[in-house]
Amino acid sequence: MTAKAVDDHAHSEQWAETSHCRVSAVRRFGAFTAFELVAPRIAGKAAPGQFVMVTVPGGGFLLRRPLSMFTVHGDRAGLLVEARGAGSERLAGLEVGETVDLAGPLGSAFPTKGVTNALLVGGGIGCAPLQYLADELVTAGANVTAAFGFRDFRAARAAGAFAVERLWVASEDGAVGRRGTVMDVLAELDAPPNTVVYACGPAAMIGAVQRWTLEQGLRGYASLEAHMACGSGSCRGCVVDTTRGKLRVCSEGPVFALDEVRP
Ligand SMILES: Cc1cc2nc3c(=O)[nH]c(=O)nc-3n(C[C@H](O)[C@H](O)[C@H](O)COP(=O)(O)OP(=O)(O)OC[C@H]3O[C@@H](n4cnc5c(N)ncnc54)[C@H](O)[C@@H]3O)c2cc1C
Ligand code: FES
Repeated sequence: MTAKAVDDHAHSEQWAETSHCRVSAVRRFGAFTAFELVAPRIAGKAAPGQFVMVTVPGGGFLLRRPLSMFTVHGDRAGLLVEARGAGSERLAGLEVGETVDLAGPLGSAFPTKGVTNALLVGGGIGCAPLQYLADELVTAGANVTAAFGFRDFRAARAAGAFAVERLWVASEDGAVGRRGTVMDVLAELDAPPNTVVYACGPAAMIGAVQRWTLEQGLRGYASLEAHMACGSGSCRGCVVDTTRGKLRVCSEGPVFALDEVRP
């Protein structure tokens, strides 16, 4: 089969439309790997905050792994991976020319309509969906400020993967940007009253951003992570507690209103 023939060739699967996609570019930033896939169908349908379920090549990996849409440029979908276990390690090692199967785009997107000032707050690999969001907000004419926090030098090098004009970086060991957490950055920021906050990162960070946002009298959204098996709403393995009851991260989320999550 030629490379072209396998590019984003959609076929049906029981629970979601899938696309067979060729890796067209790979860039490595410390602990994170950014790769771009030829994926016209997914790139044409996706919105910031959505994710794809990705097959892990090589055998031995039964379940797909959820990864956020990191970028969309024309017919290319970008993903950013941090190796945490065997599956993400294999994905982080993908090379140009390899193919993977993507199911999606899945889940809810970040609402962006009418936003004039946006503050994007990310922690670690949770920064991944915020690049695509920043791109869309800037295209729509919004003022975008981002504050990203990383734990150490290897993770903080991932800041190089992001192209956001007003980006403040914090690292816990002080290796890159301000020493401290992303909350130390927020404490020094002056957010206009109509700012919409968008957060993605570890639960402790989401909780801190939620409190800060309420104190500032702002509103916002959070993208949550959960362990996923099906990614399509049927196994209920990804349920989280919210003010609306127990909701599935894969189908009612991953994006929720910040004031309804219980991190
Ligand atoms: C909606 C969503 C979007 C995501 N987007 C990205 C992304 O853009 N880039 C990225 O690198 N990762 C992302 N993740 C997390 C990623 O899916 C997991 O890191 C990956 O599935 C782990 O697989 P593994 O085989 O490497 O790890 P395993 O060997 O299964 O586990 C390794 C470690 O990772 C933890 N882990 C496994 N799955 C998850 C999970 N879903 N959430 C949190 N911790 C987990 C385990 O508890 C364990 O400590 C996302 C997760 C969700 C739910
Ligand atoms: S992963 Fe199965 S319901 Fe969400």
